Amino acid sequence: MSDMRTLGEFIVEKQHEYPTASGELSSLLSSIRLAAKIVHREINKAGLVDITGGFGSENVQGEQQQKLDVYANEKFKAAMAARDQVCGVGSEEEDDVVIFDEAHGLNAKYVILMDPLDGSSNIDVNVSVGTIFSIYRRISPLGQPANLDDFLQPGNKQVAAGYIIYGSSTMLVYTTGNGVHGFTYDPSIGVFCLSHENMRIPEEGTIYSINEGNYIKFPQGVKKYLKYCQENEPEDNRPYTSRYIGSLVSDFHRNMLKGGIYLYPSTAAYPSGKLRLLYECNPMSFIMEQAGGKASDGKQRILDIKPTELHQRVPYFVGSTHMVDKVEAFLRDSPDQE
Ligand code: AHG
Ligand code: MN
Ligand code: MN
Repeated sequence: MSDMRTLGEFIVEKQHEYPTASGELSSLLSSIRLAAKIVHREINKAGLVDITGGFGSENVQGEQQQKLDVYANEKFKAAMAARDQVCGVGSEEEDDVVIFDEAHGLNAKYVILMDPLDGSSNIDVNVSVGTIFSIYRRISPLGQPANLDDFLQPGNKQVAAGYIIYGSSTMLVYTTGNGVHGFTYDPSIGVFCLSHENMRIPEEGTIYSINEGNYIKFPQGVKKYLKYCQENEPEDNRPYTSRYIGSLVSDFHRNMLKGGIYLYPSTAAYPSGKLRLLYECNPMSFIMEQAGGKASDGKQRILDIKPTELHQRVPYFVGSTHMVDKVEAFLRDSPDQE
């Protein structure tokens, strides 16, 4: 008999490790799994849109074709709304939080924050994209609509976080605070299979990922760190390697498997960094710490930042612990004049 474990089986198995668990979080993860399959299907036929009808045109059912990020947003939102565990959703694609204030939403325990399609500019060129999600227990009382404070909790309050990478294969990677586990999708049977149990990032890595086009306005410490990577050879006769896909999920996933650092510091266009604290940095930081790595804004732990706004941005340094320590040290030693 095969010892293959599916995501569904794994979730049920893990639920038994928490004697007080009521199964609601498991059910919520199942809705995410379903939405992931739907988005996988759509992304895998994205190239066909041009020959079967472009975005903005009508498809065969007479429906308007949507951009994939809008499509992913709708699918994940609908999956959340269909279950009884979610009282509201915050999304990179929505200006404001979406509160589920009908009967089951009022008594639901969890809020979700998500980036439904990360790296969306890569879609047109057939390069990997992702979805990122983050789950919190609400702090407002049950029986009433959720409010903004439920969404503005620091990342250290997350109960689960994960991402889906739609790459050369589709994978779902998640944590509930007990290690990081990865599942690869087998489209022929429509099932996510456990392929990466207990993922760990090497403490030291050799890959750095940054959009170097923004170099001129980088903080001094980041410039020095890049120079350090270019002048040193962590392995004999082999310098650090630069790799940048331009979708956080993909760069992060590669670096977590191989060892490396992803950097998005402040730039001319984005003085506070480009990435969003609630939809991108918090969930990825929770995963990274659970995999044994580190996530920082250059000075402090990402997960300890108290958010003040839904769409808040933050400088971001995430990856192998020693590499993040190093860039923090350069930033400390070479402060920029304000
Ligand atoms: P999104 O597609 O959700 O807007 O996110 C894109 C983000 C992130 O995924 C990526 O690493 C980064 O923006 C790339 O930014 P640059 O093109 O400025 O390098
Ligand atoms: Mn994104
Ligand atoms: Mn996005």
